[in-house]
Amino acid sequence: MRIILCGFGVVGQSFAKLLESRSEDLYARYGLKPRIVGVFDRNGSATDASGLDISRLIDAKKKYNSVKKYSETKNNASGIEMINDLEAEVLIETTQSNYKDAEPGMAHIINAMKQGMHVISVNKGPLALAFPSLMELADYNRVLFRFSGTVGGGTPILDFAKNSLRGERIVSFDGILNGTTNYILTNMADGMSFNNALSDAKQKGYVEADESLDLDGLDAAAKLVILANWIMGMKVTMPDIKRTGIRNIDSDDIKHATEKNCTVKLIASCNKELIVAPREIAADDPLCVSGTLNAISFTSEQSGTQTIIGRGAGGIETASSILRDLIDIRNESTKT
Ligand code: HSE
Repeated sequence: MRIILCGFGVVGQSFAKLLESRSEDLYARYGLKPRIVGVFDRNGSATDASGLDISRLIDAKKKYNSVKKYSETKNNASGIEMINDLEAEVLIETTQSNYKDAEPGMAHIINAMKQGMHVISVNKGPLALAFPSLMELADYNRVLFRFSGTVGGGTPILDFAKNSLRGERIVSFDGILNGTTNYILTNMADGMSFNNALSDAKQKGYVEADESLDLDGLDAAAKLVILANWIMGMKVTMPDIKRTGIRNIDSDDIKHATEKNCTVKLIASCNKELIVAPREIAADDPLCVSGTLNAISFTSEQSGTQTIIGRGAGGIETASSILRDLIDIRNESTKT
C-alpha cells in the first residue's frame, strides 16, 4: 500500500515511526505492507516510489525544518503537484486544522479523492466545514474516507459509537472533547485562576498555537460536527453549532458548582440541538474526568448510557488512530 503523507509534524513523524517499528507485525497480522512514497511539509517535499527511509526523513526534518533535503535531487513539488503526479493508494492528511477555509487540507483531500485515493484525515478543518460534501465526493469517486483520529485522538470514540453500538439507536450524547480546556477547568476547580491555569497549560504544550481554537470551543465544535454527521446521520457544519467557550468562567462559577458537588466542564452535546458550552457535571458522573482526559457518554434506546474515556490528543496516540484507519481501509478495499 503506497502512502502520501501531508504534513510532517509531531503526528506525521509519530505515524512514520510507528509504521517502521510495526512493519513485520502489520504484515503478519493484516497482510499490510505500507510504504510512504511521498511526504511534504510547508517548505518542500520528498519522494521515492520504492519507499522513503523514515530515519533519514526525520533527520532531514530535524536539521532543516523540512523534508526537502531528504535527498540531493531538487524536490520542489508542491503538495497538490505530488498528489496529482505520484501514484499512491492512500493519502494521509495531517496538516493543521483551520476553521476559516480549511486549507490547505481541503485541497489535498479533494484532489486525492479525485485521483482515486482513499483518504485518512486527522485534520478536522475540512470535516468541520464540509463533512456532507466530502462524504459525497468520496462516494462519487468510490474511495474510502476515514478520520478516527479527529475525535478522541487514539481513543476510538467514533468506532465505539459506529461499530460497537451497531443496531442501536443513539438518542443523545454529551462529551468532554477538548483536553486543553478540561485541564484548565480541572486546575480552576483546584483553586487556580483562569490566567494561571491557562499559562500552566501553555507551558505544558497543551494549548493550540491559536488559543482561541481551545478556549472558544472551536475544536470541541469541530468534533461535535464530525460526531453529528458520522454517528447521528445529520448533515451539519460549523455554523450549526451553538458555541460558548470557557473564557468567562470565573472562580464564582467554580465555587457554586462545588457547593452542589459538581464541576464545570466544557460539554459538547447532541440532544435536539448541537451545543458546545460550559455546564455543571455531577462529580460522580462517569463523564466527570479530570486533567487532559476526554470522555463521552452515548445514550442509546436499548442499552442505556455508556461512557468511553481516554486520552484525546498526543502524537503517538493520534498516530495509532491512523494505523487503525489504514487497517480498516485495507480490510474494506480487499472485500469482493
Ligand atoms: N487542542 C485539542 C485538545 C487537541 O486540547 O483536545 C486534540 O484535538
